Amino acid sequence: MSLKLSHLPSRQKIKPVYPRSPSTIDPNNPPWPAYRGYHEYSFAYATMGQRLPTILGKGIEDVVLTLNQEYDEERIIDLVQCIERMNALMKELQEQAKLRPIIDDGEADVALWNKLIAKYFQGKTFMNAPWLFAEAYKYRRLQECFSVSKHWKNYDVFFRQKCDTFSRSHDAVFELSMRFAEPFTLKENLSAEEKLEAERLMFLELTQICLWGNSTDLSLLINMTEEQIKSLQSTGGANLAATEKNILGNHMKQLWETAVSLRANTGGRIDFVLDNAGFELYCDCVYADFLIQSGLAKEVRFHGKRYPWFVSDVTKKDWSWLMNSMVYGHLFPKATEEEKDSLRRLGMRWKQYEKEGKWVYEQHPFWCTGFTFWELPNEAPDLFLHLSRSDLVIFKGDLNHRKLTYDCAAPPSTDFDIAIGPMASTAGAPRICSLRTIKSDVVVGLGPDGNEIAERLDKEEEGWKISGKYAVVLLSEGRPGEKVIFT
Ligand code: F6P
Ligand code: MG
Repeated sequence: MSLKLSHLPSRQKIKPVYPRSPSTIDPNNPPWPAYRGYHEYSFAYATMGQRLPTILGKGIEDVVLTLNQEYDEERIIDLVQCIERMNALMKELQEQAKLRPIIDDGEADVALWNKLIAKYFQGKTFMNAPWLFAEAYKYRRLQECFSVSKHWKNYDVFFRQKCDTFSRSHDAVFELSMRFAEPFTLKENLSAEEKLEAERLMFLELTQICLWGNSTDLSLLINMTEEQIKSLQSTGGANLAATEKNILGNHMKQLWETAVSLRANTGGRIDFVLDNAGFELYCDCVYADFLIQSGLAKEVRFHGKRYPWFVSDVTKKDWSWLMNSMVYGHLFPKATEEEKDSLRRLGMRWKQYEKEGKWVYEQHPFWCTGFTFWELPNEAPDLFLHLSRSDLVIFKGDLNHRKLTYDCAAPPSTDFDIAIGPMASTAGAPRICSLRTIKSDVVVGLGPDGNEIAERLDKEEEGWKISGKYAVVLLSEGRPGEKVIFT
């Protein structure tokens, strides 16, 4: 039987309302529309279609290099099987296969990954799952290629690249080590006010060094003139102004006020959720060193990844490599004796911080999952509780920013606290700072005129969202002191 519906209103096009209401948000449906691999307007398209296969191809080349230097038969056979698994992953990536569960390889994140896949991504492919999840999944599958082996569980296909990039940052590395090898002091004849002002200017410049360390373009430090370099320890005004104009959402003033208030409370705990190894990590450490020496922080905790992640992210091995190469390495054959000595002394001081517990390196499994940080309080309550005891959590880089903001098309004028959702609103949420050079689609926190600013840049500067030329320094209000309750 069929009914004729001639008197009812005609079918309408229902447009979803954004942001979605909290109860309808899930990893496949972020608060604003997700970026997906098939969106040609998004960086997701180039990444899923071209960048990831290229990265994987380079990874295979790296393993072949290792294979050719191996002599033990059992290890060779084992490594050949890793390559075969990488080739199979490449095929899946290129043929847009459905995302399968992760094999139980003993990693602490397997249950989290498979829960995500089973609940939200059954039948989804690399191209139609949200970009953030699909991209993270690829790195987890790459890890699986090795973790199921016998002899190569901890192999890092990106390790050579990471070391190489740092060794090629000669000028910028010594610019910093020659200034910071000596413990930091302020001129004695300054008044209390002048001392605070000198510290403030130094803090702001070091915040920028830490920020721009995230850009692939290291020219900020390399191109500085003698005059600009001097400004690091004195006024800092001119150079700061020149680079600061590219910080489109800028809460550096509030960041300084937060840091100073920590010192008033005898120094706080500051956490860094790290991004990239090598030069960026080195900049992070220079910044953290200043935070300790100036008394702004009495403890710094660094959060890294448990296995190779998004090519250049810091693992424990990268952390140790940096510290030990600075103290014992021969990375810079052209460096003068003074330069080598400055790097050695800096490295020794940092290692001492670790021994004294002033610096602590950690690696929670949650950082290598496909969850965004909107889900952190619920999916990793232990980690949330741990972070809630921090006075300030600094998230470095583009990927961490994508995870904070659910990697979706929120309007650029969206307030940072709104964009990071539960990481700002959950009871006990620490103050969160995102230091990020803009290298992908999501842009928030640009203030009330943000939408117009973004529209203008869209018209005038194609690719401004992926060039790393622009940045944001955004700070949340936080809800410290509030009890954390998990239901
Ligand atoms: O592949 C894209 C991406 O995930 C972007 O977020 C960014 O271009 C890059 O990889 C990672 O950048 P970062 O190291 O700053 O997180
Ligand atoms: Mg990274």
